[in-house]
Amino acid sequence: MGAIARAQPNIALIKYWGKRDAERNLPAVGSISITLDDLFTETSVDLDDVTDSDRLSVNGEDRPDLLPRVSACLDTVLGADRPRARVSSRSNFPLAAGLASSASSFAALVVAAVAAGGLNRTTAELASLAGRASGSAARSLYGGFVELRNDADGIVVGSILDGDAWPLRVVAAITEPGVKPVGSGEAMEISRKTSPFYARWVEQQARDLDTARGAIADRDFRRLASIAEHNCLKMHSIMWASRPPMVYWNAATMRCLQTVRKLQGQGADVFFTIDAGPQVKAVCTAESLADVEAALQATPGVVDVMTTGLGEGARLEQDA
Ligand code: DP6
Repeated sequence: MGAIARAQPNIALIKYWGKRDAERNLPAVGSISITLDDLFTETSVDLDDVTDSDRLSVNGEDRPDLLPRVSACLDTVLGADRPRARVSSRSNFPLAAGLASSASSFAALVVAAVAAGGLNRTTAELASLAGRASGSAARSLYGGFVELRNDADGIVVGSILDGDAWPLRVVAAITEPGVKPVGSGEAMEISRKTSPFYARWVEQQARDLDTARGAIADRDFRRLASIAEHNCLKMHSIMWASRPPMVYWNAATMRCLQTVRKLQGQGADVFFTIDAGPQVKAVCTAESLADVEAALQATPGVVDVMTTGLGEGARLEQDA
C-alpha cells in the first residue's frame, strides 16, 4: 500500500510561538497564515515493505537523523502496531532554514500516510494529526488565508479567505541557505521558560489575531502590514530576551528590513515577516511585485529571491 501527497509551506502573519502542551504539541496561541503556491514538498509513503524499521529519504539522501520525528508522526496517524514504512520526500526549496519546510513536510506526510493506510480522515482531522507533528503543519492542510484557533481539546483550523479573493504575492529573500542552529520547537520552549516577554505575548495574541482577521476580511493591506510586522518583531524580541538569547537574523536580514522600509516610503504595498531563520519574506500586492523583487535582489547579502502567490491546501496525488 502506497500513496503520494503534496503540500505547500505556509507563512504565518500572526505567529505561533510557544506551546501550551508540549507532549500533545498544542500551541499556546492561535495564528494566521497564508499558504504558498510554487514551493512544495512531495512525499511518498509505502507500507508494503517487509523490513523491520522505517526508512526515510529526503531529497534523495537517506536521513536516519530525521527519522524519529517521522516515525512518531506515523505512529500517531496509523497506530503503534502499524507496518514499517518507506518514506521519501522532496522539496523544491531550502530545508530547515526558516522557510517553513516542516509545515509542508508533515502536512504531506500525514495525507500520504492516511491514504497508504487505507484510512478516511476529514481535513480537520488531518490538520490535527499534522499539528501533533509540527504546529505550523496543521495550517498547510488549507489554502489561502488560514486561521488556527485553540479550543479546549485541541486546535481548530480553517480557511478564512480564498487566495483568489486577495491574491497577494510573497517574495522570499534568502540570506543564508544553511540549516538553522536551533529548531523552532526547542527555541519556543526556551522562550516560554526564560523570556520575560513571553507571558505578555500570549496575553496580547487574541488582539493581534482580531486585527489581522478584520484587515483580511476588509482586504486592508496597510492594516494587515502594520499588525503582521508588529507581531513578527514581538516574536523575535521574545527570542532575543531569552536565556540563552536566540538571534536568527544576520546582517543581510536587517538590510532586507531596511529595503522594505524604503519601498514603503516610496508608496509600495509591502511588508516583511521573518520566522525562525534569517530569511525575509516580503508580502506585497501584484502592483508592487516588480519593485519589491528588484529591490530585494539588489540588497547586499541576498543570495536568492523566490516569488510565489497563494496556493491550495495539502492533497493526495496518487493512491495505490
Ligand atoms: C516561527 O511549527 O516549526 O514559524 O510545532 O515545534 O514543529 P513545532 O514548531 P513549528 O514552529 C513554527 C514557528 C514559526 C511561526 C509560525 O509558523 O507560526
